[in-house]
Amino acid sequence: MNKKEIKIDYWEYDTEQELSAQEQELLKQARIITDSAYAPYSQFHVGAALLLKNGKIVTGNNQENVAYPSGLCAERVAIYAAGAHYPEVPIEAIAVTCKSKTFHVNEPLSPCGACRQAIAEYEMRYKTNIKIILAGETGKIRVVKSISDLLPFMFKAEELKKS
Ligand code: THU
Repeated sequence: MNKKEIKIDYWEYDTEQELSAQEQELLKQARIITDSAYAPYSQFHVGAALLLKNGKIVTGNNQENVAYPSGLCAERVAIYAAGAHYPEVPIEAIAVTCKSKTFHVNEPLSPCGACRQAIAEYEMRYKTNIKIILAGETGKIRVVKSISDLLPFMFKAEELKKS
């Protein structure tokens, strides 16, 4: 029996101004779309903005439902919109942020497992890393260069082909 370790890399920025101009713009678009999330049940609004290789920005926010599992997270609303409107255009980066109606969020949002898997799918689809920029209302900004840093041992397409 061997104990093994996985190393993940992430970057933390004290302020948004330390991000590149393009990343700041992406986070700005995520903040804008956060405000129009439909989250009457959780009061927790999430916004996601994707930067595509063609320069387009595609945004999405969480859409809740009275039958709770029928709702969808912001990341997947945005990613599936990009997949629908811009098939075959790789996604280079995603910024995700949040805002609660009941408390102040002072730390970066941590995407749910299902959204991590959805981001992983699009890294596999386009064979390219997707930079992930995570922010709260205030506080540090966390950045990873690939979903593999947020989802070690992810389920991959190759698994389906194993005999
Ligand atoms: N939510 C997201 O939109 N993205 C995440 O990564 C985590 C959670 C939404 C789902 C639900 O509408 C609300 O936040 C509370 O869980």
